[in-house]
Amino acid sequence: MGEGMSADAKQSTRSALSRRARDFITLVCCFGFILLLMWITGAIGLIEAITALLVAMSVATAIFVGTATILPLSPRLAVEPTQVQPNIQESAILLDALPLPAFEIDDEQRIVTMNEEAEFILRLDGRVNPRASTVIRSPGLLSAIENAIKTGTVEPMAVEVESGPDETWRAHVSRPGRARRTLVVLEDLTPVRRAARARSDFLANASHELRTPLTALSGFIETMRGPAKDDKESWDRFLAIMAGETERMSRLIADLLSLSRIESSEHVSPREREEFRDIVSDATHAFSAIAAEKGVRLVVQSDEGPMPVIAHRDEMIQVVENLVSNALKYSKEAGQVTLSFGMASGMADARMKAGQTWASSERMTLLPAASRPGTQERAIWMRVEDQGPGIEREHLPRLGERFYRADQSRGGKITGTGLGLAIVKHIMAHHRGGFSVETRIGEGTAFGVWLPAAREDGLSD
Ligand SMILES: Nc1ncnc2c1ncn2[C@@H]1O[C@H](COP(=O)(O)OP(=O)(O)OP(=O)(O)O)[C@@H](O)[C@H]1O
Ligand SMILES: [Mg+2]
Repeated sequence: MGEGMSADAKQSTRSALSRRARDFITLVCCFGFILLLMWITGAIGLIEAITALLVAMSVATAIFVGTATILPLSPRLAVEPTQVQPNIQESAILLDALPLPAFEIDDEQRIVTMNEEAEFILRLDGRVNPRASTVIRSPGLLSAIENAIKTGTVEPMAVEVESGPDETWRAHVSRPGRARRTLVVLEDLTPVRRAARARSDFLANASHELRTPLTALSGFIETMRGPAKDDKESWDRFLAIMAGETERMSRLIADLLSLSRIESSEHVSPREREEFRDIVSDATHAFSAIAAEKGVRLVVQSDEGPMPVIAHRDEMIQVVENLVSNALKYSKEAGQVTLSFGMASGMADARMKAGQTWASSERMTLLPAASRPGTQERAIWMRVEDQGPGIEREHLPRLGERFYRADQSRGGKITGTGLGLAIVKHIMAHHRGGFSVETRIGEGTAFGVWLPAAREDGLSD
């Protein structure tokens, strides 16, 4: 576009030139005819007539050549500026077709066009053509815009803009073609940055969690080889601790593998039709012995009737297991853990039953269900309630983050890696379900999950 004229401009220049040549030839012919008449009638001599004709022809040629060389050098004379530079309406249509927030700034540094995404981000509050400096707060972006206007440079520039503690954008500033406006296209880098940070946090946490038991193991091995070499009585104690640490490591590895398996199958929707009641009974089977050993009563109660669900059986079993094992772990002796589940008429109803039962409690939705608008799908809910210590309010938003343990700060002796709830959250997301917590300090905690029930016509929708 910056390379000379367009095909249209060239065509119109060519036709202007041929019209001019035709006019000049007509004029010279008329002049020659008048001279011929004057010579025939004896008004002038032959020599004067030929000289006058030659002078007229050279003047005409000089004028023609002069104007003909100006024409192609000055396309703006041949082409209206509006033909080269899109007008505001055309720009607005183009910007609307862009999937990214984009806006244009004129040479007075006023925002003249923008698409809907940009309007949302710039928060103009009804202001028309505001100055860029009153809307954009990033000095880097403002100076890139100023620079583009001043130099008129066509080279696009990219500027990174931090617009919040956890929000980064890349602004692409350019002056497309001959346009006397500067185009700014915004690209959201936040998800990419967040994912990179989550990945590095995850690696740091995972290696820390693995190193702790390994350090303990190698410490005991050294002691048993060195100072306690002959103290066979201490060996039993050491071996028991070592076995515990090994078990902790293998549990951690199993959890990590399970998380990565769930993540890698995230785009494959569950297909199997399962009975939720069977899932719960399979999952709770092994817990009666553990509960009895701890002196905790495990009560399972449910609605009547079938509860068909499209689910990944092993994953749903893991959800029940992780929630019940937490409830038992944090229960006091002689406490009670109640697992209740049932069918609700819709997702909203299921969410209430799973996570909003106590009158005065701290509540948080850890994962909102991805419900389909306009459809009233029946839903299955489950609630695991305990009478443990409860969880302080400030910890609630972080439950479900990998390796987050609320009781670490409480200095509790209860061990764990902080992956159980992260696994539950992932599995529920995979099943288009929701996940919430409700807690009362000193009285107990209840975790709830809900997900769409299978359709009665048997289709896996
Ligand atoms: N029923 C509960 N009562 C009180 N606190 C709880 C309960 N369930 C979970 N928590 C808190 O949430 C944190 C995260 O739980 P999560 O199940 O993810 O990890 P964990 O139980 O510590 O380890 P693991 O990976 O072995 O399950 C726990 O460390 C604990 O602080
Ligand atoms: Mg747990």
